[in-house]
Amino acid sequence: MEEIFFERIKKINPKIIDGLKEKNEFSFRVNRHKADLEVIDELKKEGYNPKPVEWNKYVYTLPIEDRKKIIKSLPYTQNKIYIQNLSSIIAANSLDVNEDDWVLDLAAAPGGKSLIFSEKAKKVSAVEPDKKRFFRMKRNFKEHGAKNIQTYNKDGRFVYKATGEMFDKVFLDAPCSSEAHIELEKGITWWNLKRVKRFSKLQKELLISAFECLKPGGEMIYATCTFSPEENEENIDFLLRRYENAKIVPVNLSIDNIQEGITSWEGKEFLDDVKHAIRILPKGAYSGFFFAKIKKI
Ligand SMILES: C[S@@+](CC[C@H](N)C(=O)[O-])C[C@H]1O[C@@H](n2cnc3c(N)ncnc32)[C@H](O)[C@@H]1O
Repeated sequence: MEEIFFERIKKINPKIIDGLKEKNEFSFRVNRHKADLEVIDELKKEGYNPKPVEWNKYVYTLPIEDRKKIIKSLPYTQNKIYIQNLSSIIAANSLDVNEDDWVLDLAAAPGGKSLIFSEKAKKVSAVEPDKKRFFRMKRNFKEHGAKNIQTYNKDGRFVYKATGEMFDKVFLDAPCSSEAHIELEKGITWWNLKRVKRFSKLQKELLISAFECLKPGGEMIYATCTFSPEENEENIDFLLRRYENAKIVPVNLSIDNIQEGITSWEGKEFLDDVKHAIRILPKGAYSGFFFAKIKKI
């Protein structure tokens, strides 16, 4: 299996392998429900030296050595900062949420992206079917002071049947084979192609539900933390072919560790528009990620 995994990754982009090896930084953002930029001075007083990212004044990185001890810092224990991967933050911010929006987060636990939406939106509905993860997510929202999130312990595949086209924005951070979280030093133990195919099927069902929940004129983002095109480009191609009123929207990011969507894989050809999808290559505090923005016209 290891051989197949590496062969596939090399075909997508050989740089991914180096990125998976070097995890020298982590990131956090200021929790705007509870704090402002003064929290950075509080961290500095405790001996930390957070580095701002270029694309958002509330997002910072720190060396990986600080990762364990920061959870004892005052800003962390007071829930004024939220540790979150840069790729997740940049993808959540790419859904242009505004203050009148009702946002649906269709696969929401532990709730990191819902918390980002809740800082900007009127209302957020967060769906999670797994009971344990659901209750942990509810606690997370409470601890971080988000008051505009409603939570639903439901299977995302069927949500559209109850809601119809109700949401201004939808985010689907789909359950996936999580290839971006593989720790190479531990070996490729739990990865196999069957898993990729199983997730690909579930993701298509969730994508249909996400798109059906969206208001005409609304926008959604489909995202995964995996590299396999079966779980990424193939699913975007599937959605674009199924719905004539689904259009992919290009996203401009000011970072250089990205690659456009690939348009052919293992003998399958995808629509040319799929190239507007984004694959974030792992680098520093960015873990591997894939996302595409889709508009319902
Ligand atoms: C990648 S995680 C979401 C992470 C989250 N968006 C965040 O940023 O904190 C995917 C989630 O989808 C959930 N999930 C699995 N099957 C699902 C389904 N049928 N409908 C909705 N969510 C599902 C998993 O339990 C998991 O919590």
